[in-house]
Amino acid sequence: MNCIKTMLTPSSVLHPLNKNMAFVQQKPLLFSLIIFCFIAAASSRGPIYAPPNVPRLTDSFGHVPIDQGYSEFFGHPNIQLTNNGSNANLTLDKVSGSGLASRSKYKYGFFSAAIKLPSGLTSGVVVAFYLSNADVFPHNHDEIDVELLGHEKGRDWVLQTNIYGNGSVHTGREEKLYLWFDPTQQFHLYSILWNNHHIAFFVDNVPVREFIHSNASSSIYPSKPMSAYATIWDASEWATHGGKYPVNYKYAPFVASFGEMEMEGCIWNTTGSASPCSRRSLSSSDPVDGETFAKLSQEQINGLQWSRRKLMFYSYCKDTARYKVIPPECKDSS
Ligand SMILES: *[C@@H]1O[C@H](CO)[C@@H](O)[C@H](O)[C@H]1NC(C)=O
Ligand SMILES: *[C@@H]1O[C@H](CO)[C@@H](O)[C@H](O)[C@H]1NC(C)=O
Ligand SMILES: *[C@@H]1O[C@H](CO)[C@@H](O)[C@H](O)[C@H]1NC(C)=O
Ligand SMILES: *[C@@H]1O[C@H](CO)[C@@H](O)[C@H](O)[C@H]1NC(C)=O
Ligand SMILES: *[C@@H]1O[C@H](CO)[C@@H](O)[C@H](O)[C@H]1NC(C)=O
Repeated sequence: MNCIKTMLTPSSVLHPLNKNMAFVQQKPLLFSLIIFCFIAAASSRGPIYAPPNVPRLTDSFGHVPIDQGYSEFFGHPNIQLTNNGSNANLTLDKVSGSGLASRSKYKYGFFSAAIKLPSGLTSGVVVAFYLSNADVFPHNHDEIDVELLGHEKGRDWVLQTNIYGNGSVHTGREEKLYLWFDPTQQFHLYSILWNNHHIAFFVDNVPVREFIHSNASSSIYPSKPMSAYATIWDASEWATHGGKYPVNYKYAPFVASFGEMEMEGCIWNTTGSASPCSRRSLSSSDPVDGETFAKLSQEQINGLQWSRRKLMFYSYCKDTARYKVIPPECKDSS
């Protein structure tokens, strides 16, 4: 399997559905080697797009029961706690979506959720796990988004990430990539690391995006306390192919399952204490703003490069039609 990956040039591999076309573009003299690889891949079990080994960052943190760490945000009848409060099923139906909000606000931290997406035709349905403080700072809010966009029949699943800092909503900083698995079959881990050094997004612990706190990004770097949210909602206007495929409620209800919630770092607490951070009992020795979390490790960088080369198909940094002047922080990432 590895031989296929190494032979394909990055530009010819956009996502799994393109793989047959990609082969056609290869030089003929590689043909027999390709056939060999095909046979090797077909006879092995794993997906062709197996990610490289990365450290299991999510193992560094404990799970927070949803009934302790979160409260209802909206759509009360559509929120169902399961598994003794450690999991939640969030439903979107004709009447409403639903969502959870963390009870605490965080100045920085590690946030993770195991999510299983609704199966079936889910165009227009968005399942989101994100940080925001729009409730407290309506005009200069910060936001760090992981959005799982619904798919159409026969197409792949798309994950979108986005960042707003200090109310910078006029500049979308979206990136999109194809997932390398079917997110409706099992739970997968979607995580956000946010501290004063950088923001990193992970899928099953593989980094898919890093946003560095640099001089170029400092004016729009999220730096005010935020809550964590888990939601499902109708984004018919834009989610799937720019709104071409709205939610089809013939297939409702849409149920997303959440579990293995992790939230660790600086809990914002201004009442009484000298330090604004009151940490919950840390299972890791290093607070999430410390040296261990200041940079990606070399293995994580390899994972980041892998995911971006193979699976990313949109970055605002490359969107010259949208941005005549590419935002300055784009120089930070290669
Ligand atoms: C359910 O959760 C409560 C509180 O979190 C705990 O005390 C109890 O032991 C749990 N029950 C089971 C069966 O796990
Ligand atoms: C960032 O800005 C600070 C202060 O404005 C300056 O001292 C520093 O050299 C800058 N760093 C870079 C990499 O440009
Ligand atoms: C955030 O925006 C406000 C204006 O809305 C500005 O005064 C402030 O300096 C900005 N903060 C940073 C860190 O750039
Ligand atoms: C929660 O959703 C899962 C699908 O992810 C389903 O298998 C399970 O039955 C649901 N549980 C409840 C109590 O609705
Ligand atoms: C906030 O700090 C006060 C005083 O140190 C403490 O009593 C309280 O439990 C803290 N709240 C949280 C949510 O940690």
